[in-house]
Amino acid sequence: MANLTIRKLDDALKAELRQRAAGNGRSMEDEVRVILRDAVHQRHGFAPSLPQDQGASPKAGPDAASHGHHEAFPSPQARITLIVGGGIAAYKAMDLIRRLKERSAEVRVVLTKAAQQFVTPLTASALSHQRCYTDLFDPQSEFDAGHIRLARDCDLIVVAPATADLMAKIAGGHADDLATAILLATNRPILLAPAMNPLMWKNPATRRNVDQLRRDGVTMVGPNAGEMAERGEAGTGRMAEPIEIAAAAQALLAPPPPRPLRGKRVLITAGPTHEPIDPVRYIANRSSGKQGYAIAAAAVQAGAEVVLISGPVDLRAPAGVTLTRVESARDMLAAVQAALPADIAIFAAAVADWRVASEGGQKIKKGAGGPPPLQLTENPDILATIARLADGRPPLVIGFAAETENLLDNARAKLARKGCDWIVANDVSPATGVMGGDRNTVHLLMKSADAIAVESWPVMTKDEVASALVARIAQATELHES
Ligand code: CTP
Repeated sequence: MANLTIRKLDDALKAELRQRAAGNGRSMEDEVRVILRDAVHQRHGFAPSLPQDQGASPKAGPDAASHGHHEAFPSPQARITLIVGGGIAAYKAMDLIRRLKERSAEVRVVLTKAAQQFVTPLTASALSHQRCYTDLFDPQSEFDAGHIRLARDCDLIVVAPATADLMAKIAGGHADDLATAILLATNRPILLAPAMNPLMWKNPATRRNVDQLRRDGVTMVGPNAGEMAERGEAGTGRMAEPIEIAAAAQALLAPPPPRPLRGKRVLITAGPTHEPIDPVRYIANRSSGKQGYAIAAAAVQAGAEVVLISGPVDLRAPAGVTLTRVESARDMLAAVQAALPADIAIFAAAVADWRVASEGGQKIKKGAGGPPPLQLTENPDILATIARLADGRPPLVIGFAAETENLLDNARAKLARKGCDWIVANDVSPATGVMGGDRNTVHLLMKSADAIAVESWPVMTKDEVASALVARIAQATELHES
C-alpha cells in the first residue's frame, strides 16, 4: 500500500521524501511508515519517534510513560515475532504489541490474510515501530528469505489470536502462507494464545490439535472463559488478555533456574509407616509427609533425579519425581535398597520404631479373654542400615531427628548413633504444630572430620526449609567436587 502511495506522489514530493529517507538511512517506504507512525502518535499526544533503532526503546516511547513501570524481558532486548491470526481478538493483539514493548521487547508483526480483515498492517507497524509482514513472497522484504529470518531471528514466536484454523495448520505442518511457513521453519519457542468460538474449542478436531501441539512442545496461554464477541455466546474460547500473554511470554524467556544438582540422584523417604496389627488395623503416627515431599520438589527444581519412597500420605507426588508408595518400615527398607545407588539420601520419613511381632492373618475378634496382648518387636532402622553400608553408601546421608525434648543433645547423639553425615533436628512437641503443620523450625547439624557444626534456622515454611536444605546440599556437593 505504501508503495502505491509513493508511486502516486507528485515528483517534487517524491524527491523530498527520497532526500529525507536518505538522510535518515531508511528506504522511502520505511520513511513513510515513520511519518505515519509519528502522525498517529502526535494525534494521541505521544512524543514523536526517534530514529528506527532507538524508537523501539520503551523508555523513549510513549508506552512506558503511560503505563508505568513494567519488568523488562531478561535478555537486553528480547526479539519477538508476533503472528496475528484472523479472528475478532486480532484487535487485542494490537494492545499486546504495546504490552510487549513496555517490557523492552522488539516486536515484529506478521498478519495473516484473515487477520487483515480485522486490523491493518499500518496499525501494526505504527505500534511496533517496525514494518509489518504479510506475504510469503515479498519483493520488498529486506530479508533474503523472509520467513526463515522471521522464524529464527527472534527469541520467541507468539501467535495471538491463534484461531482454530491456524492451530490446525500448525499441528498439521502446513506452510502455505507467511505465518505458517515461519512456524514450520522455526527452532524458537512458540507461545499460542488460542481464541475461538467455545464450540470450536470443544470440537474433537481442535482437542486433537491442541494435544498434538502440546506434545510438540508448544506452550499455550488461555483461552479464558467468558462472553464471546457473538451475541449471546459464552464459554471457553476468549483470548487471554494481552497482559496475561505478555506475562506468559516473559516466563518463557526467563533464564532457566540454576540447576546445581543436575546429574545427581537423590533418594528421599517421607511420611509415616503403617505397621499392620491384622488385615484391617495398623499402628501409625501423625507424620503428614509434607517436609519430605517439599524436599523432593526442591531437589527436582535443582535439577536432581529424585526417587521418593513414601509411606501412606494424602499428597500428590511433585512433578518429575519417581514415587514408590510403601506401607510398612520393612517395605520402605526394601524399596530404599532397591533404589540405590544414590548420591544423596535424605531420610525424612517418620518410621514406626516397632511393629506387632506376629501380625494376625485374620481380623482379631473381641473375645471373652479381653483385649489381645500386642507383642511389639523393633523395626529395621533404615537410616542406620544405609549410613553403615560398607559398599554403595551414598556419599551424603542425611537423617531427621524428631524430638520433643533436649533437641540438640538428642540430635547430636542420633547423628553418632545412626552414622549419618547430617541431621535435620526439629522439635515436634505438640505445641510447635510441626507434625502435620506447614511450618518448621530446624537446626542443621553437619558432621565434619573433627567437629559438628550446628546451624539454627528461623521459623520457615516446610517449602522454605526444603529449599534451604537443598541449597546447603548443593553447596556441600560443589565444595566436595572442587
Ligand atoms: N529412621 C529410620 N528407620 C527407623 C527409625 C528412624 O530410617 N526405623 C530415621 C528417620 O527417618 C529419621 C531418623 O532415623 O531420619 C531419626 O528418626 P527419629 O524418629 O527421630 O528417631 P528414632 O531413631 O526413631 O529414635 P527415637 O525414637 O528414640 O528418637
